[in-house]
Amino acid sequence: MASLLTYLFIFSVFYTASSQDLLLDSLSLKYSDISDLDPLSLDLDIPACPSYTCKRKDQSFTKKTCIFYSADDDTFYVDKCADKTFSLCNPTQSLVNSTCTIPQRTVIPLSWPGEKCHNASDCTTGCIACKMGFCIAQPEGSGCTSSMECNAGLFCSIPTGGTGACAPQIPVGGVGCTSDYDCVNGAGCNITTPNSASATNVCIQYYTLKPHEIVSSCVSNSNLLCSSGICKTQSGISYCSNSLASENSNIPNTCQRGSVCSSIADNFFTTPFALTGPCQCGLNSNGTAYCPIFPGDAPYLEFINQSKKGYNSTDIAKCHTLRRYTYQCREQHWDKKNYDKLQYYFTYVNHYPVVQESPECVVKMYQSDYYQAKLEYNDEFGSATAIGVSIVLALIAG
Ligand SMILES: *[C@@H]1O[C@H](CO)[C@@H](O)[C@H](O)[C@H]1NC(C)=O
Ligand SMILES: *[C@@H]1O[C@H](CO)[C@@H](O)[C@H](O)[C@H]1NC(C)=O
Ligand SMILES: *[C@@H]1O[C@H](CO)[C@@H](O)[C@H](O)[C@H]1NC(C)=O
Ligand SMILES: *[C@@H]1O[C@H](CO)[C@@H](O)[C@H](O)[C@H]1NC(C)=O
Ligand SMILES: *[C@@H]1O[C@H](CO)[C@@H](O)[C@H](O)[C@H]1NC(C)=O
Ligand SMILES: *[C@@H]1O[C@H](CO)[C@@H](O)[C@H](O)[C@H]1NC(C)=O
Repeated sequence: MASLLTYLFIFSVFYTASSQDLLLDSLSLKYSDISDLDPLSLDLDIPACPSYTCKRKDQSFTKKTCIFYSADDDTFYVDKCADKTFSLCNPTQSLVNSTCTIPQRTVIPLSWPGEKCHNASDCTTGCIACKMGFCIAQPEGSGCTSSMECNAGLFCSIPTGGTGACAPQIPVGGVGCTSDYDCVNGAGCNITTPNSASATNVCIQYYTLKPHEIVSSCVSNSNLLCSSGICKTQSGISYCSNSLASENSNIPNTCQRGSVCSSIADNFFTTPFALTGPCQCGLNSNGTAYCPIFPGDAPYLEFINQSKKGYNSTDIAKCHTLRRYTYQCREQHWDKKNYDKLQYYFTYVNHYPVVQESPECVVKMYQSDYYQAKLEYNDEFGSATAIGVSIVLALIAG
């Protein structure tokens, strides 16, 4: 089944990707086209969701237990790791206790051209030096075989049958791209003629094509060139689709574990196009399951807005072309306020069904990236909830 969004890891391995197979900013959400849905795959016969709550004061856990699973009430009771050495709690997915372990030393990832370094050994293989605190690769005009060897702002331009040279990224509206990475960081390549620097291949600003405009391809119902981020192929032609919100607009929607949730449909298509996503157990004390958020729902639109702002910022233009989607580079170059807002919406949208009504001790343990991002965001902007409400009101008023 087609999934709309996949992990960022894929892109760090295969750099030949273009806007079609880039997920919407590395979200790990999974949607399917409703017309691919097999009703026989639904399993409503599975047990209800477990509950998650903080350790009660009257409970005492055995040494090194950080999460106690009680089969009696199908509940996980969450505590901290008190021991300085065994300080990490790795929650398991199974219905068992979790124990505190010794944290592994984290490997510091290498920096790319344009990213911070202390020493040349901090930089990726394409780099030649660490200069004034940043990794440096080859300048414009130098020979290359891959964009990794070129400085930020450049890509390796390889004419058909010729040898490559580092050249400035192609601006919006410019032609001759063969992948998104040939275009400026805020734009992707509409590949009319594959594997050729053809003049019909145009760099188009991300999130700008209107619903039902034609795009060169649509993989996993996703194309970042579309304003909605989503698309559908019909009779061999791919079209951007409308922005599709949850079918029941009163989000968050509760649901039955094993069922699927749907978005509204775009009736432009002969078979109306809607997305589905699995109902997910939440990390809440009631054992409630929730529907995922869909690309047309308010928090997701807010995420797209902030992401768009980032792609179009002069700061993110300082990121290497192959690093445009990474949060590591954005964090280094973008202003903290904008970065924190993006990170908050990114993690919120990503974990939307599981963090609804979730106690703080549970979120902190199970979704620490969201927990941290929310803390930073609230520091900058005041209460996230209050802002969430004002967005909804603004949408109603608009
Ligand atoms: C799970 O943790 C509780 C509380 O620490 C303990 O009483 C129980 O024996 C543990 N169960 C298993 C299977 O280790
Ligand atoms: C810098 O990296 C080199 C190896 O590339 C290493 O020998 C040297 O100790 C490093 N210097 C510092 C200050 O880390
Ligand atoms: C994108 O490419 C397709 C051909 O694959 C073409 O029909 C379409 O007009 C192009 N879209 C834009 C906005 O240039
Ligand atoms: C879950 O429980 C909390 C507190 O007990 C309550 O406020 C909330 O309304 C419940 N949510 C649902 C969906 O039952
Ligand atoms: C996104 O940004 C546009 C223009 O900047 C604005 O009109 C729209 O209301 C924003 N949407 C949300 C959900 O904030
Ligand atoms: C990107 O920024 C420029 C100005 O820096 C602005 O003119 C343009 O409309 C922006 N594009 C989008 C899609 O936000």
